[in-house]
Amino acid sequence: MKVIVCKDYDAMSRKAGEIFAERIKAKPGLVLGLATGSTPEGLYAELIRMNKAGDVSFKEVRTFNLDEYVGLEPGHDQSYRYFMNAKLFDHVDIDKANTRVPNGKADDLASECAAYEEAMKAAGGVDLQLLGIGSNGHVGFAEPGSPSDGRTSVVDLTESTIKDNSRLFASTGDVPRQAISMGIGTILESRQVVLVANKESKADAVARAIEGEPTTDCPASFLQGHPDATFVIDEAAASKLKGEYERA
Ligand code: GLP
Repeated sequence: MKVIVCKDYDAMSRKAGEIFAERIKAKPGLVLGLATGSTPEGLYAELIRMNKAGDVSFKEVRTFNLDEYVGLEPGHDQSYRYFMNAKLFDHVDIDKANTRVPNGKADDLASECAAYEEAMKAAGGVDLQLLGIGSNGHVGFAEPGSPSDGRTSVVDLTESTIKDNSRLFASTGDVPRQAISMGIGTILESRQVVLVANKESKADAVARAIEGEPTTDCPASFLQGHPDATFVIDEAAASKLKGEYERA
């Protein structure tokens, strides 16, 4: 696993932006796996800036998001579809028909999950998967306890995730209790993974993911078994690492 420690959030976002832009330039029809959360917002701002400057085009890019809350309309301001439109898709030259976010309002959620996996397969698989990390070590909404070979499915959110994410809702009671999420097995199949993390509140999860034993207690630790996974993190998120890592 590669680790790049950046000075601060802006440097982390620029570094991750460079990695994404280079890959899209090398393969214009790249299949991206995308993530939500406050952490990737700076990276998305970088991609928008590069797109507007004519440095990178999303015309042929296809995307699959990691997850979506069960029960939220796509137009709900806390849905992940809404987030992706607002933070990236509305501002770049992407064809929205080529962007997929699981449908958390599907009548048959199990069929939605199976169809999502099929669509990823039909697209040739994810070339580059972006991840954030939850303070409990979750990726997407693959929570502690998730199996390392798990596929896209309906998952129950843990109390700690509900609490972390309640800051974005009017009250804790408004946070959905379930989500559709890619599984660890799905994520590990992508050809390349980039995980971004900043802030001290992520330092424990980052240290367990990078330096702990791979365990379902910290789903991100399974990335240690991926052949091309890079953590791009700021100094605060790296503050509990014991090893020496590349600095950018
Ligand atoms: C949510 C998302 C994750 C994200 C996590 C951390 O739970 N499902 O994909 O990584 O939040 O979010 P933030 O970047 O806001 O800390």
